[in-house]
Amino acid sequence: MTTTFHPALGEAARSFLSRQHHLLIDGRMVESDSGRRTDILDPATGELIATAAEASASDVDRAVDAARRAFTGPWSKTTPAERTRIMLRFASLIEANGDELAELECINSGKPLPFCRNGDVAGIAEMLRYMAGWTTKMGGETPNVSLPGEWHAYTLREPIGVVGQIIPWNFPLNMAMWKIAPALATGCTIVLKPSEQTPLTALRLGELALEAGVPAGVLNIVTGFGNPTGAAIAAHPGVDKVAFTGSGETGRRILLAAAGNLKRVSLELGGKSPVIVFPDANLEAAAAGVCSSIFFHAGQICAAGSRLYVHERAYDQVLEAVARRAKSIKLGHGMEVGTEMGPVISRRQLDRVTGYIHSGQEEGATLYAGGGTAGERGFFVQPTVLTGVKPGMAVHDEEIFGPVLCAMSFSDDADLERISATANTTTYGLAASIWTKDLGIAHKMARRLQAGIVNVNALSSPDAALPYGGYKQSGWGRERGFDAIKLYTEVKAVAINLNT
Ligand code: NAI
Ligand code: MG
Repeated sequence: MTTTFHPALGEAARSFLSRQHHLLIDGRMVESDSGRRTDILDPATGELIATAAEASASDVDRAVDAARRAFTGPWSKTTPAERTRIMLRFASLIEANGDELAELECINSGKPLPFCRNGDVAGIAEMLRYMAGWTTKMGGETPNVSLPGEWHAYTLREPIGVVGQIIPWNFPLNMAMWKIAPALATGCTIVLKPSEQTPLTALRLGELALEAGVPAGVLNIVTGFGNPTGAAIAAHPGVDKVAFTGSGETGRRILLAAAGNLKRVSLELGGKSPVIVFPDANLEAAAAGVCSSIFFHAGQICAAGSRLYVHERAYDQVLEAVARRAKSIKLGHGMEVGTEMGPVISRRQLDRVTGYIHSGQEEGATLYAGGGTAGERGFFVQPTVLTGVKPGMAVHDEEIFGPVLCAMSFSDDADLERISATANTTTYGLAASIWTKDLGIAHKMARRLQAGIVNVNALSSPDAALPYGGYKQSGWGRERGFDAIKLYTEVKAVAINLNT
């Protein structure tokens, strides 16, 4: 195996990458039954940085067995306060190893290093601490019942059991922790499958969890492809719940596979989120927000603001500012100082994104900025703006998951009903962003938009306390906040007749 490391990579990250990576099952790194391995690439260079084990269905069986034993065994015997302490230690270890984690995230996902350090690593430590707080605070209720006689009734909130978690490649650390943290907090045990393209930081997290005192078998990590590894988790009769983030197509497959034992399913399936700019808004801030939402991490963000609607009086000003920014963004390796945008994850994703740009032009859209690939190696796409986009075009209706903004305008003829109806035209409903100083417009639009997340004068709201998830075909359930605790618990109603 010939691996090439970026020269700026620190010693800890280098030494981790140089290791032979295995599966984490029952607290130990073990080889996969098949012995097969997958190449892991640096998307900014296309070069090999490591290989990962491919878990087969029999490896998933072993991981599920370990998770079941840990669920009925040691993990069920920990008190909430003990779980909180373990989770807080886990968060501190993440921070103590923050440089290494950030560099691994950068080299494998392509995101600029400062964001990996200050966004991803800091974000997952916060998520753990937030969820660790719920561990000692969540509980049941004592409903007032109206049954004849005298009763004492209460509810219990209990862990669902063994949960399968299948995550994508765009935010490997965050996607892992949004799922691991509420599962640990509630007392569930986990079989996590990272993306076959970005499994490295999840494996490192697994080691840190053990070091923090998470008992063996509570967090198992099986690396491998959607098929067979992910499919085996989704169909497994020993898995009580599956949580998934990724494409709608795979979400539907998981749903069908989960039907066998009717396991609980939560899905986060991306979006085509509208950004609506009213003429009274701070247009400079709006343009900057639009750019950071669609170009940051090369648009590979499920809540990316990918459809821009600007009032015609503000349209030219906003579009010019967006195009200026699009043309000045510094593309490069995430480890290089000053890089603002990295590559997309793979050759396949690059072909998919450029395919959309071409199809948009064929269907009548105009290229306003960007449109091509960039760099001599790696998978770089230029920040791109398309104008003249209409509903019905693939670039308008479908998730591109690349740095491609579709811009449209609206006039004074359009009232809030019409503007929101246009914004609501896609099958997705993940996020929406409204730019205005008028409180009435802001609140009325927030009510009318079919989206699980609405930001006003902001493009994102990355806070562990805020529920995250979608309306319509953007998914089922909400991660983050107390809603995430609900996703990992069952409610039991206990009623006691006090008269016998
Ligand atoms: P994908 O949805 O196929 O992959 C996501 C995860 O699901 C990976 O871990 C993969 O191994 C797993 N998976 C794939 N097939 C599976 C199966 N049959 N059973 C169980 N697990 C399975 O996403 P992909 O193909 O990498 O990207 C395609 C498009 O999906 C992107 O262009 C983007 O539009 C969308 N996507 C959306 C994401 C989001 O955050 N909403 C994240 C990643 C992709
Ligand atoms: Mg796929």
